[in-house]
Amino acid sequence: MLKDKVLSGMQSSGKVHLGNLVGALQNWVKLQDRYDCYYFVADWHALTTGYSTPSVLQESVKDLLINFLASGLDPDKCTIFLQSKVLEHAELHLLLSMITPLGWLERVPTYKEKQQELQDRDLSTYGFLGYPLLQTADIIIYRAKYVPVGIDQVPHLEISREIARRFNHIYRDIFPEPEALLTEFPKVPGVDGRKMSKSYDNAIYLSDTPKEVEQKIRTMTTDPARIKRTDVGTPDLSPVFQLHKVFSTKEEQDEVAEGCRTAGIGCIDCKKVLIKNVLNVLEPIWAKRQELINNPGQLQEIVDKGTEKARKVAQETMKLVREAMGLI
Ligand code: TRP
Repeated sequence: MLKDKVLSGMQSSGKVHLGNLVGALQNWVKLQDRYDCYYFVADWHALTTGYSTPSVLQESVKDLLINFLASGLDPDKCTIFLQSKVLEHAELHLLLSMITPLGWLERVPTYKEKQQELQDRDLSTYGFLGYPLLQTADIIIYRAKYVPVGIDQVPHLEISREIARRFNHIYRDIFPEPEALLTEFPKVPGVDGRKMSKSYDNAIYLSDTPKEVEQKIRTMTTDPARIKRTDVGTPDLSPVFQLHKVFSTKEEQDEVAEGCRTAGIGCIDCKKVLIKNVLNVLEPIWAKRQELINNPGQLQEIVDKGTEKARKVAQETMKLVREAMGLI
């Protein structure tokens, strides 16, 4: 039986961090056995906000592709590609723009939110408004059924469904309405306790060295009320404990929590356990990263092959779309 299609992308606007690993990549790896999966680097999307820093973009594309593979995506099981190398996404984006009411795009909540958040950039551009439409093209050009994403992307999936429906209604039934596969995962705080994000400068990157990881965890914020070693602490107020919930065994969690509450252990003792566990997760990733960095030809070949395969599927869809819209 033909497997259902799954598609997801990651924007190349920075380096991959532990939040991306736990929140997206590990889930993508799980899905590759059950579904026909397409995973790509959304470098055009990165341009919608990062158009003035091409060098950041370029570095990030490489970092993402390396980390896709280093985290366990297997090119024999899934299709890995670069968005800007499949020009059909741009063609579909253009054609969909003909039938997309402006109001739909203006009403997507992330539009105003992101503009607020990134006030240092001029985001009153056509491309930025069209972000969810480009995302729609990414998804429906493969006629994907499921899109694994975090909760923040739900409004984008909603508009994708609406646009697919509108196209099917005006022309003919070509596109299935994609469904979000909501990724349930524990929150991954950064070293300062806020959400892990490159823009807060609080992230632990997959490209960090063991020393850097250790240093970042050692200097992490803990329960602010626990000042002296003899003060008792509240684990739930410490971002270190939140990371334990992601990376440590249940027994270790119970042990450090108890030690914190009774001042039986110090914060450094607690952090040492976390450091060990994070290094354990990262070590195989680092080994694979090194292998790929030493052998750039191999990476290029994997991406070229994936891109070619994706392009074939996209071209088939575009034939139907052109025909339906009266283009010959
Ligand atoms: N908007 C997504 C994000 O920021 C990235 C993305 C672009 C994407 N195109 C997509 C995700 C298509 C899923 C499907 O995370």
